[in-house]
Amino acid sequence: MILITGVAGFIGSCTAECFIKRGFPVVGIDNFDSFYSRSVKEKNISWLKSHHLFSFLEGDLNDVAFMNSITQPVSAVIHLAAKAGVQPSLLQPLQYIHNNIQGTNNLLEWMKRRNIRKMLFASSSSVYGNNNTIPFSESDADIYPVSPYAFTKRSCELLNHTYHHLYGMDIINLRFFTVYGPRQRPDLAIYKFTNAIHNGLPIKLFGKGDTQRDYTFVDDIVQGIFNAYEYLMSNNSIFDTFNLGNNSPISLLHLVELIENVVGKTAIREHLPEQPGDMRITYASIDKAKKILNYNPSTSIEEGLKIFYQWYLTHQ
Ligand SMILES: NC(=O)c1ccc[n+]([C@@H]2O[C@H](COP(=O)([O-])OP(=O)(O)OC[C@H]3O[C@@H](n4cnc5c(N)ncnc54)[C@H](O)[C@@H]3O)[C@@H](O)[C@H]2O)c1
Repeated sequence: MILITGVAGFIGSCTAECFIKRGFPVVGIDNFDSFYSRSVKEKNISWLKSHHLFSFLEGDLNDVAFMNSITQPVSAVIHLAAKAGVQPSLLQPLQYIHNNIQGTNNLLEWMKRRNIRKMLFASSSSVYGNNNTIPFSESDADIYPVSPYAFTKRSCELLNHTYHHLYGMDIINLRFFTVYGPRQRPDLAIYKFTNAIHNGLPIKLFGKGDTQRDYTFVDDIVQGIFNAYEYLMSNNSIFDTFNLGNNSPISLLHLVELIENVVGKTAIREHLPEQPGDMRITYASIDKAKKILNYNPSTSIEEGLKIFYQWYLTHQ
């Protein structure tokens, strides 16, 4: 049985569905963190909850009694739970440190007690900071996070290494690059811009609009997670890190044009100064994931935005 943390979230619910559809029993946990609405997360797991291979437990990674109450025979953990989002982390750095770093440490301790030795961890492109070498490669050593959120993700990657070293746990850090698609978190740009353009409301553009992101469609990310799981389960003594991105960054202004095309309306643009903590560019080298995980993202941004908008129209 696989334990998925953060199962009611955007990527967690999509990942759980992928594993359930392939016949894997899944136990999912989530604390319905207040970062965005509980009702959205309840909807994310409504199909899962009706499936006999799925069980759901509401609780917090930081609640040791709750973690100890999980009695299912778990063989691997897919750890996606976190407070996500860069800008809110500047306002609440301690909450991010508590939730993400301490939460991961509690999870690793629980795994140690239960002798569970396999984990995939959701890291982030944000760990690269304003790295000057593009595309970003897993072998880049000179990486310095530029937001508290990114700091928590990089810290967890290192914590995972510590548990691998001390207790022989097999752990893979997966660095996701701006994930979008149906169920996307409402705080992320594609969701916010689509919603605003659809409703004739202004969109806020920070900086000159030339920042670039390597937007990656959620189905491609989930495929990468699944392939990483198979690799994790068929190898021992591993600690490794992979980028899961699209290898095709686009600028903020171009993203807005693409969303305008899909929605069929012109955006009302409100230009604001650059925000501290934001990166200039994210751009994944995916050579390593292609070679070792057979990861092959296949959804173009144009196609992915159309799928997202169809979902948005039926779920707003
Ligand atoms: N979406 C992206 O573009 C992106 C990019 C890079 C990395 N990530 C990482 O991927 C993971 C999933 O991201 P998402 O976009 O699906 O976010 P999300 O907010 O939709 O999902 C995270 C889920 O974790 C739960 N959670 C948070 N803290 C918890 C705790 N202490 N105990 C139990 N549950 C808890 C939340 O309630 C939420 O449902 C996160 O770790 C995030 O940092 C996401």
